[in-house]
Amino acid sequence: MIAREIRRLLDDGSAIRRMWTLGRKLKAAHGAENVADLTLGNPVLPPPPKVLETLGEIVAHPPPGLHRYTPNAGLPEVRERIAAHLHGTGLLPGAEGGHVVVTGGASAAVNVALRAVLDPGDEVVLLAPWFPDYPAHVMNHGGVPVPVSTGEDFLPDLEALYLAMGRKTRAVIVNHPNNPSGRQYPAGLLRKLADLLAERGRENGRPVYLISDEPYREIRYTADRFESPARFHEHGLMAYSFSKSLSLAGERIGYLAVQPACPDADELVRALSLANRILGFTNAPALWQHVVARCLGEVVDLAPYRSHRSRLLEALAGKGYEVLPPEGTFYLFPRTPGGDDEAFVRRAMERLLLLVPGGTFGRPGHLRLAFCTDEHTVDLAVERLPDARGD
Ligand SMILES: Cc1ncc(COP(=O)(O)O)c(C=O)c1O
Repeated sequence: MIAREIRRLLDDGSAIRRMWTLGRKLKAAHGAENVADLTLGNPVLPPPPKVLETLGEIVAHPPPGLHRYTPNAGLPEVRERIAAHLHGTGLLPGAEGGHVVVTGGASAAVNVALRAVLDPGDEVVLLAPWFPDYPAHVMNHGGVPVPVSTGEDFLPDLEALYLAMGRKTRAVIVNHPNNPSGRQYPAGLLRKLADLLAERGRENGRPVYLISDEPYREIRYTADRFESPARFHEHGLMAYSFSKSLSLAGERIGYLAVQPACPDADELVRALSLANRILGFTNAPALWQHVVARCLGEVVDLAPYRSHRSRLLEALAGKGYEVLPPEGTFYLFPRTPGGDDEAFVRRAMERLLLLVPGGTFGRPGHLRLAFCTDEHTVDLAVERLPDARGD
């Protein structure tokens, strides 16, 4: 007998993983080369050459203790380098090594942050559409997810956000560029959003944390500067991952950084470090701590993403879909022709085209297409995409 909540989550299933599993079956039956699988944000691009070279050098000339436990917050020199990068790029001015906790990716970072700040029954506001694991991440720590819809343009609706925050609100999770909408939030809006959290925190007599989950901040297609929401809030926490920027999703490496202006930064970092240990992560993979610390300015080649994005946008427009061009990420989130996501996804599947229904992201009436795939798969998808006007 398993726990009731896990039973419910199993039964609900993540549509993404479900579609991915189905995709594997379809590939076994029809040949992988015949299935256009746009389900998972699991990049097929190789990591940048410098990452692989650095990995080779570290393995060939291992630093002392390479394979041992590291401190729970990460190796001091790695934390220092990450902080210097955050300060130097202006992403988090004033950051020092003591503000950084190295984690096993962004999902671990979000869980560590929630574990450190939530008391049972505390509420965490999630902006829809959201990364599908957020509600479970919140519940992992006795929290209550509170959904709030964004506007038609997928930008946060500040009035709705303010109304959703109450006495029990402990945190708001913000993710931009957003998975699945691709939307990058303007700096002015982020400042106002941070002000609202600060105001609510003052009214509540305890801070409302802003957890900024930003694994896509380097994967962008416009000239607009990326600003971390964590920068604008005294109680800001930045969750970052190298899964997407360096195509290292399987290696589980990322970090949390605490806003240097946070009055309780030291205690918070100690809490995060403890949470990293007691959640069972113990420490981020030591080998990859060494690698990423030497590759902080690196980003995967964005040219294939630009090309896939343009081709799919063109195909969607040509076939009558309504879609906002994503400013970042490697996802497209068009409206579902006819409005029935599940029916549409099934119809696409009959053509061996795999998509994810919008309900998975808390935003029904849409479809997600992940284009972190190869050119052949994009060719197939362009060919197989049903005409939105019916064909
Ligand atoms: C918004 C968002 N957060 C977190 C994650 C998980 O990232 P990681 O592999 O670093 O745990 C993803 C992965 O798709 C994501 O899209």
